[in-house]
Amino acid sequence: MLGVPYLIVIRRERFLPAMYVCVCRAVTENEVHDCITAGARSARQVRDATGAGGDCASCVRKICAILKRSEDLMPTA
Ligand code: FES
Repeated sequence: MLGVPYLIVIRRERFLPAMYVCVCRAVTENEVHDCITAGARSARQVRDATGAGGDCASCVRKICAILKRSEDLMPTA
């Protein structure tokens, strides 16, 4: 495969132990990232997809911070 440009992306988070964002619903940071990759753009959309934030809601700030961080990393057109 010499001469064929390719890119291998390894998400470092995949090799780390699960970090829970939402303890009530046992939702990990990776699950929130997967949800954002699938198109979620708000804490409500993350809640609808994963359940995170649906009980005590103490994790919503953390979810918003993850969403903000991912927005900052997204390329603008
Ligand atoms: S920690 Fe997420 S709803 Fe309670």
